[in-house]
Amino acid sequence: MPEPSRPARYEKFGWLDVLGLAFLAGLAVLPPIAEIHKQIILLAIGIFQVFESRLVGFHTRLLSGRSYSVLIKILLCSLLLVHTVPITEPVINSAYWPIYFLPVVTAATYFGPLATLGWTAITSVAYCSYLIPAHFEYYEITPDAYELLGIRILFFFLAALLINRFVIENRRQVARYQTLSETLAESNRQLQHAQAEARRAERLAALGQLSAGLAHEIRNPLGIIKGSAEMLSQKFGPSQPAASELAGYISTEVNRLNALVSRFLDFARPSRLELKPVDLRQVVDRALEIAQSRYPESGISIERHFAADVPSVLADEQMCEQVFTNLVLNAYEAMLPQNGDAGSATSGTAKEKKITVSISRDSQNGTRGVVTTIEDSGPGVPEELREQIFNPFVSSKKTGVGLGLSIVAKIIDDHRGTLEVTSRPGEGARFRVFLPETAA
Ligand SMILES: Nc1ncnc2c1ncn2[C@@H]1O[C@H](COP(=O)(O)OP(=O)(O)O)[C@@H](O)[C@H]1O
Ligand SMILES: [Mg+2]
Repeated sequence: MPEPSRPARYEKFGWLDVLGLAFLAGLAVLPPIAEIHKQIILLAIGIFQVFESRLVGFHTRLLSGRSYSVLIKILLCSLLLVHTVPITEPVINSAYWPIYFLPVVTAATYFGPLATLGWTAITSVAYCSYLIPAHFEYYEITPDAYELLGIRILFFFLAALLINRFVIENRRQVARYQTLSETLAESNRQLQHAQAEARRAERLAALGQLSAGLAHEIRNPLGIIKGSAEMLSQKFGPSQPAASELAGYISTEVNRLNALVSRFLDFARPSRLELKPVDLRQVVDRALEIAQSRYPESGISIERHFAADVPSVLADEQMCEQVFTNLVLNAYEAMLPQNGDAGSATSGTAKEKKITVSISRDSQNGTRGVVTTIEDSGPGVPEELREQIFNPFVSSKKTGVGLGLSIVAKIIDDHRGTLEVTSRPGEGARFRVFLPETAA
């Protein structure tokens, strides 16, 4: 987007510049024709006009490039005036006096009203400078000439103010469009974000229905298999230990499948939230205990930053516990090499294994609530997985099911909360959960 205060015609050499040069050339072939200095100065003005845009970007400590540009034009115009009158006449009588509109208009397009007035005054002084008495030995100035001078100078100011007003209005308009386009870009970003969330929710819903149906169908035969295995074990157990052992395997594997199916159902179950005021600090504490008891030998330290003024949130306590248990377990598993995540095997051992949990009040888009962050010092979530980890069945662990985070995301969606992950590879992952004080 072009810089708003710089007129577009300075951006590149176009047909308008060619036309401008043609007009200058027109001046060159008008009287006094044989005046070589006049031709040279007109040429200089033409060249300067073409390269002006380069000077505008240039700054010195004393003056800006734009000020230099106006100053140089005043000097060139003053020189032109000297060479366009006979030596016996006052310079102010030169027919080329309107050339001073060049610096005046330039200043009006570059600057604000005060600077424009200042530069117009300087231009007028330059025009009048030929009135200094030293010149009077060559000519005499009549009262008529003074009147004419006054009129011309007033025209300078009039033109300067008119153009400046127009330019400033134009700049304001450009600024307005710029803010508008920024707002539009921001809304666009938000829309894309919302669309991505909606797609995620749709995927979850479709998979939820599918897995609910499937899980239901799997549970019944599993019950029969398990019952039969137990009966076999009772019947043949004492006489055939091998059969009993095999029946034991069947039983444990069925239990494992059952647990898996239960998790599918968790994920698929249409949520019926049992809302009541919940102190998230207690819920998170329980989640930390569950994880600690599951991995007692982990060597992971826990750091708690719980604010004292955390309000209760209206939420389903059981589901919140599930959310934080899943997040804390993931953090543990990310730092435990034996749990299959190849990345953690290397970097998890080198660093201190630590989970930092913070809870504090916060508000988001005008909604008050509580924000909980769970941060670990594990390997972090790889960039390419960051969007996908919330999808069902995405897991980087050997024995992972990949349902944990999709369940977490679903529960938080149901509570009208938000879930974000930030992670720099090698520096751990940070999950941020925002739950509004009053869900839904
Ligand atoms: N704290 C974490 N650090 C690094 N990666 C994580 C973390 N939490 C989740 N992940 C990634 O997200 C994936 C999905 O997690 P999840 O849905 O809980 O399934 P699972 O734990 O069964 O793999 C994990 O396999 C892992 O790759
Ligand atoms: Mg998990």
